[in-house]
Amino acid sequence: MIGDVMTQIIPLPKIDITTRIATMDDLEFIDQLQKAHHRELGFFPRAQMEGYIKNQWVIIAEGSGQCAVGSGQMESSSLPTAHCLPPTLLGYCASRDRYLKRDELGAIFQLCVAPKKQRGLIGANLLRAVFEGASYGTKLYCCWCAQDLEASYFWEAMGFVPLAFRTGSRTKGKNAKPRVHIFWEKRVRAGDEVTPWWFPSQTGGGAIREDRLVLPIPPGLTWSDEMPVLLPIDHSPLPTEPKRLPGPRAKKLREIRPGPCRINMSRLNIGADIGPARKARKTGRSPRAKAKHDPKHIAAARELRDRYLEQVNDQNLRFEPHGKYEVSRVISAPKKSLQLEAA
Ligand SMILES: CC(C)(COP(=O)(O)OP(=O)(O)OC[C@H]1O[C@@H](n2cnc3c(N)ncnc32)[C@H](O)[C@@H]1OP(=O)(O)O)[C@@H](O)C(=O)NCCC(=O)NCCS
Repeated sequence: MIGDVMTQIIPLPKIDITTRIATMDDLEFIDQLQKAHHRELGFFPRAQMEGYIKNQWVIIAEGSGQCAVGSGQMESSSLPTAHCLPPTLLGYCASRDRYLKRDELGAIFQLCVAPKKQRGLIGANLLRAVFEGASYGTKLYCCWCAQDLEASYFWEAMGFVPLAFRTGSRTKGKNAKPRVHIFWEKRVRAGDEVTPWWFPSQTGGGAIREDRLVLPIPPGLTWSDEMPVLLPIDHSPLPTEPKRLPGPRAKKLREIRPGPCRINMSRLNIGADIGPARKARKTGRSPRAKAKHDPKHIAAARELRDRYLEQVNDQNLRFEPHGKYEVSRVISAPKKSLQLEAA
C-alpha cells in the first residue's frame, strides 16, 4: 500500500468555464442530464433535487457566454452592436459536506457533464469547486460508483482511493445480475497524510432502498476485481395472483359495464387507506417486507471494518496514489473575525 509520491497536474479546463452555485433556473438542465444518465447516476426525484438546489448543494459548470461584435443594424445608430449568447450549461455536481452524520466526511452524490463536453476537465473542475466550498472541517470526500462504469477511472485520476464495496442493485449489473458499488474516498486537504480513513459497515435506503453490508476491498485486490455479492434475505412472500371472486354472482359483477354511480360519502374512509396496505390491496400482493441482513452478519461486517481501519489508520499506511490531477483544497489562514485576540 505504500507508494511513491507522483507529480500531479492542475486540471486546466480545455474550454473557458466558470463554476457557480445552481439556481432553480438550472433545474430543467440538471433534470434532463440526470435522466439521460440514469444508468450511471443514482436518481434524484425532482423534489429532492429542488431541495438540494435550495440548500446550495449543487454546483453548475457553464461556458462563458460569447459576444460577437456585428455591424450596427439598429435604425437609430450606426454604431457596431454586440450580440451576446447566454452561457451554456455544461455539467453539475450534487454533493454535501457532511455524510452519515460525520462532520469530517462529505459525499458526492451526482456528478455529470454533458456528453459532448466530457473529457474536457470540466468534471475535475466541478470537483475542485466542491472541495473549495466545503466547510473547514470536511477533510474527506467519498462517493459510491458502480464498478462497471468508466467514471471509476475519473475517481482514480482525481486521487480517490477505492476502500470498500457493497452489492448495488439486484438486477442492474451485466446480464441483469447484481451490480457492485465501490466506495471511493479522498483526503481533500492538500498535503494531508493523517486524516483517518473511514467507511460505513452498512448502508440502508438510498437509491437501492435496501440494506447493504459494506466490506473492505481485500488487500491485494483492486476496485476492478470481482467482488462477492452480498444480498439481504428477502422476507416478502412470493407474488400471488390477484384474488378473483368465484361463482356466477362474481361473473355477473365483472360483466357490469361502467356507468354513472352514486358515492356514499359516509363509507369513504379518506386518509386511512394509503401506503403499502393500499398498494397491496390494489395489486393483490402482500406488502413487501424490507429485506434485512442477519444481525450476526451486520456485527461481523462492523468488526471487520473496524479491524481493517485500525490497521490502516494506526499504522498510517498510505494507499498507492493514482491521482493524475491535483484537485485538493488549499487551506488558507483563518479570517480575522475568527482569530482569537491575545489577552
Ligand atoms: C465521469 C464524468 C463526470 C467525468 O467528467 P469529465 O469532465 O468528462 O472528466 P475530466 O475531463 O475532468 O477527466 C479527468 C480525468 O479523469 C480520467 N477519466 C475521465 N473519464 C474517463 C473515461 N471515460 N475513461 C478513462 N479515464 C477517464 C482521465 O484521466 C481524465 O484525464 P485525461 O482526459 O487527461 O486523461 C463524466 O464522464 C460524466 O458525466 N459521465 C457520465 C455520468 C457519470 O458516470 N457520473 C459519475 C457517476 S459515479
